[in-house]
Amino acid sequence: MSDVSRNRADWERTSAAYERRCKHVLGGRSAMAWGLWRTPESTTQYLGPVRGRSVLELGCGAARWATALAKKGARPTGLDLSLTQLAHARRELRRARVQLPLVRGSAEAIPFGADSFDIVFCDWGAMTFADPRRTVPECARVLRAGGILVFATASPIRFLTYDPQKDRQSRRLRRDYFGMHRVEWEDSVEFQVPYGEWVDLFVRHGFVIERLVETRAPAGAKTPYLSAADSVWGTRWPIECIWRVRKDRTGRSREVRHAARRV
Ligand SMILES: C[S@@+](CC[C@H](N)C(=O)[O-])C[C@H]1O[C@@H](n2cnc3c(N)ncnc32)[C@H](O)[C@@H]1O
Repeated sequence: MSDVSRNRADWERTSAAYERRCKHVLGGRSAMAWGLWRTPESTTQYLGPVRGRSVLELGCGAARWATALAKKGARPTGLDLSLTQLAHARRELRRARVQLPLVRGSAEAIPFGADSFDIVFCDWGAMTFADPRRTVPECARVLRAGGILVFATASPIRFLTYDPQKDRQSRRLRRDYFGMHRVEWEDSVEFQVPYGEWVDLFVRHGFVIERLVETRAPAGAKTPYLSAADSVWGTRWPIECIWRVRKDRTGRSREVRHAARRV
């Protein structure tokens, strides 16, 4: 079974439980908020102005972000692998009386043409579960020149220090950093690569890096995504990071520019 099929099956199986466990931190005023500690977009401005912009949410789940973006005057589209997650999204759209396209597909082969979007983003969405060696070029392809890619996901440090025996973060390095790529869980697969590889991927595919935010857990904060012990760990080391990169305003990747120079 491919990694994408495995993750799809996992999300079909766990979607209802995920909704029950997390919906209280995902909806309402937190609909446009980032990461494990739900930092509002109104304070971070990672996406910036959205009115009139075409936006793709990669791994939208119940599409609460996309729904809120539509209310702000953006033109969002939600993409997700899982039919069950998209059923939650349809329910949210009905409830909010918002209409926007919901598409089933994988971020590793985005079913849209080149130069389709001004913003591609996700909050622990497909950029966590899909291979960045495939998703970064795909995002570069569907973004217009000058468009931005923003995503929150796990930090490499989270995987370096995770103790699988105790199922918690630890203070020791427990796996190799070099070669980090595919992280296998019991029923699903995540992806993470060393920081240098992220930088190479972005630059090679024509992105300029604007921000890398290493989120710090607020003291005493609770989140349904982490145990209390891991939240305390997160006050000392970054468990999550948020990238904001911009597609080169010429719209060309470094590889294309090098080839052009050779001709
Ligand atoms: C943790 S949920 C996050 C969804 C939403 N941001 C939220 O917080 O509810 C991750 C989502 O990514 C989707 N996903 C995983 N791999 C994907 C892929 N390769 N392409 C598109 N979506 C994917 C899953 O189906 C799931 O809905």
